[in-house]
Amino acid sequence: MKKIDLITPCILVDGDILNNNILEYQKISDTNGKELWPMTKTHKSTEIAKMQIDAGAKGLLAGTLDECEAFCEMGIENIMYAYPVASEPNLQRAVNLAKKCNFIIRIDCQEAAKLINEAAKNADIVMNYSLIIDSGLHRFGVLPENAVSVANAISEFTSLNLVGISSHPGHVYGALSHSDLQKYVDDEKSSMKYAADALRAAGYDLKIVSSGSTPTFRGAVDDETIMVYHPGNYVFNDVIQLSTDTARDCDCALTIYATIISQPRESLMIIDAGTKCFGLDQGAHGNTAIVGFGKVKGHPEAIVDSLSEEVGKIKISEETTLKVGDKIEIIPNHSCVPANQTSYLVACKGDVVDRFINVDIRANSKKPII
Ligand SMILES: Cc1ncc(COP(=O)(O)O)c(C=O)c1O
Repeated sequence: MKKIDLITPCILVDGDILNNNILEYQKISDTNGKELWPMTKTHKSTEIAKMQIDAGAKGLLAGTLDECEAFCEMGIENIMYAYPVASEPNLQRAVNLAKKCNFIIRIDCQEAAKLINEAAKNADIVMNYSLIIDSGLHRFGVLPENAVSVANAISEFTSLNLVGISSHPGHVYGALSHSDLQKYVDDEKSSMKYAADALRAAGYDLKIVSSGSTPTFRGAVDDETIMVYHPGNYVFNDVIQLSTDTARDCDCALTIYATIISQPRESLMIIDAGTKCFGLDQGAHGNTAIVGFGKVKGHPEAIVDSLSEEVGKIKISEETTLKVGDKIEIIPNHSCVPANQTSYLVACKGDVVDRFINVDIRANSKKPII
């Protein structure tokens, strides 16, 4: 089947670019003697997770317990869950994972630690955890200078075992250009060094010091303290990564394929894809560098100006060859969103459809047993 014959809208992935991105980040990690445990919330696909493991990833960082359970079923040994749990049945799910694989949960406060400890104790297991360090995002995490006191407080819970420290410098998404990136890399490196040194001096044996994001990856990968990196978005890239030169157009694997269905006036075209494909992201954490809602490939004169749920407005700024009936490819601002809005990605090789990649571990894709 040819790409041009696909029903629109749909979410395309260029199979070669996806593969190259996976291999490139793996190679950079290997060259620097680091482990890559990619964040999988970007793709929520067991097939892409397998590509990452086959390329050499030593583990995975999951954004949901659904992802953790699917990876455990695939036989992946090292699975870290990015967040704490604090209610049933998720406490039980975490315990079950810890019985089956090298499962590491992240914790940053005593209250959640108490609940997880109780669940582990009742199951007669010891749960490995990584203490979340706040490297500047100010979401989860303890400040580096408080790492020892929080670890000491949690050490009263004897069914928990501190194996490491972890962070995500997500405030990097406030960077407006490439030259801005260094200060976020410095935050990431200095926070992890401070916390790791202090904990080790206090007698803690840290087997893992992990952190990561796509924009800080290249700058931070040669760090002396961080051992494991967790970029996620790099598999697809997007306009947000283009805005800081973290990726080039030719590194953007995921696009939205849409048809121009109307031209109500010369400077306005309407496409058959809206927020239900793109999401509404214009950059997180204060980024004002992004204009519009995506980049139309090959047509700089066409700007994705606004989106309704099922349709989008394309503003035409100069003369164009585009016309009603044409199919266009748009790099979204934030690729993690479209990948979560479809149950399959259409993987193409050039102009030909190669295969369908199931997005099989979206939240609630598995119904609970009642
Ligand atoms: C905890 C955590 N780690 C890693 C990542 C991966 O970051 P990026 O998507 O910039 O590669 C994310 C993304 O949001 C995250 O929340």
